Amino acid sequence: MSVLPIVQWPDARLKAMCDPVGGEDMRALAADMLETIYAAPGRGLAGPQVGVLRRIFVMDAGWKEGTPTPRICLDPVIQPLGDAVATLEEGCLSIPDRPVQVTRPARVRLTYRDLDGAAQSVELEGAEAAIAQHEADHLDGKLIID
Ligand code: NI
Repeated sequence: MSVLPIVQWPDARLKAMCDPVGGEDMRALAADMLETIYAAPGRGLAGPQVGVLRRIFVMDAGWKEGTPTPRICLDPVIQPLGDAVATLEEGCLSIPDRPVQVTRPARVRLTYRDLDGAAQSVELEGAEAAIAQHEADHLDGKLIID
């Protein structure tokens, strides 16, 4: 495993619409991406942030507090659950030292495929919901400063 260089704004790759992963093996990339967020340190990282314009992100909302919850999400889809919204301060490893208050749906369903190709679906709230939405936005070229 290795720590990957993180693409910095305003690199044009951060504005790209990413392609599906499909059946491609993402194990090595995913392991490197998780190592990269632990080194950064951060809580989430999406493909274009390491120069890979594919629909993959990794996140771990709790590791800094000693409760690691790593997720590796391929071809993720996010659906809001209910009308409640939440505003949290978000940072982005591609836009250092520029935290932004972002309002998003407070609860979401995250559907994705794992590294084995198995369909997964989880309900997220709090920081996990915000991180998943932030990372999914990256796959559509959308940043917190947009
Ligand atoms: Ni980001």
